[in-house]
Amino acid sequence: MAVSKEQVLAALAKVGSPAGEPLPDARVLSDIVVADGKIFFSLTVDAAAVKAWEPVRKAAEEAVRAIPGVQSVLVALTAERSAGAGTRGPQPAHTASHPQRAAHPADKVQPGIPGVEAVIAVASGKGGVGKSTTAVNLALGLRDLGMKVGVLDADIYGPSLPKLLAIKEKPQTIGGTRLKPIERYGLTVMSIGFLIDEETPMIWRGPMVMSAITQMLREVEWGKLDVMVVDMPPGTGDAQLTMAQQVPLKGAVIVSTPQDLALIDARRGVAMFKRVNVPVLGVVENMSYFLCPSCGTRSDIFGHGGAQREAERLGVPFLGEVPLHMTIREKSDAGLPVVATEPDGPHARIYRDIAAKVRDEIKGATRPAPKIVIDA
Ligand SMILES: Nc1ncnc2c1ncn2[C@@H]1O[C@H](COP(=O)(O)OP(=O)(O)OP(=O)(O)O)[C@@H](O)[C@H]1O
Ligand SMILES: [Mg+2]
Repeated sequence: MAVSKEQVLAALAKVGSPAGEPLPDARVLSDIVVADGKIFFSLTVDAAAVKAWEPVRKAAEEAVRAIPGVQSVLVALTAERSAGAGTRGPQPAHTASHPQRAAHPADKVQPGIPGVEAVIAVASGKGGVGKSTTAVNLALGLRDLGMKVGVLDADIYGPSLPKLLAIKEKPQTIGGTRLKPIERYGLTVMSIGFLIDEETPMIWRGPMVMSAITQMLREVEWGKLDVMVVDMPPGTGDAQLTMAQQVPLKGAVIVSTPQDLALIDARRGVAMFKRVNVPVLGVVENMSYFLCPSCGTRSDIFGHGGAQREAERLGVPFLGEVPLHMTIREKSDAGLPVVATEPDGPHARIYRDIAAKVRDEIKGATRPAPKIVIDA
């Protein structure tokens, strides 16, 4: 039987704060994360009062553990430096969604995006491996699973969403300050490419990358989303770090081609997300094998299977393999992504399978990352 947040809150109402208030009224509770019978949340309290709160934390854990169907409970006590006044609102969801993460400087600056349940990044170490194609089709696959999905094109050097989704219109502004994203194929979409001319040369520096991405995250009316898929620029630079620091990323999907070189880059991508404590949801092998469009014969031109082996070696899930196929390229480049325009075709099925795995990984993204050391 699934445990609900309401049950957890009801159990916590019987636990008192040091001042005698029921916990849900004590303005210390983070969002409560319930995943397959596992419950996580945190209590954010004044640093000076930590000793008094420790028994409360224990009591909260015991109260929640007693709910039928609960398998494990993790309640973290998060101390804040005394701000003088004793009032504090509830903490953003991220403190609870990554309870096992080691403390990281980025943790302090990660408020969630209002209305957005989970943000995931689609990344790779090197360019041209099919991140954008994967991001769009993965987003559509998640849409097909009944989720409300947004796509953010964080590749401000070479935005691809205008082309991949054939979007020419400019986003409207709301109240002169906020931007309304574009809707396409049931996805809520934003790209810097909607705002600038394709011909404009872009010489972005680190701080400008930061502010451009921050604006697209925070000054866009994303509305309510189950998941936001972020198409990352290639590499492990400023944009990736900005994302990791600006939003509580649920996890990252790493796209790789089977060739060794791309895999070395993929490894670098995996290592980078691990370093900033973002769970790697898994690896997708793109252009995995060649399917002849006329005879249907499969050839493993790049030495297929490398990404799967690599995923095993790195201890991250393998999410699936996408063939190198003319249809994927033609459709992608014509703004007609296969999952939207050939929903019954074999490629759409592959992307939907990957999406289902990603969805499951998002749910389980609270588990600790495997402990491995990678040289990047
Ligand atoms: N599975 C596939 N089969 C055939 N063509 C593909 C496949 N995946 C991607 N492509 C094509 O490869 C090219 C590069 O893909 P894409 O733009 O998605 O890569 P990217 O990793 O986002 O690149 P960049 O690093 O420049 O952002 C595109 O022309 C795309 O249509
Ligand atoms: Mg791209």
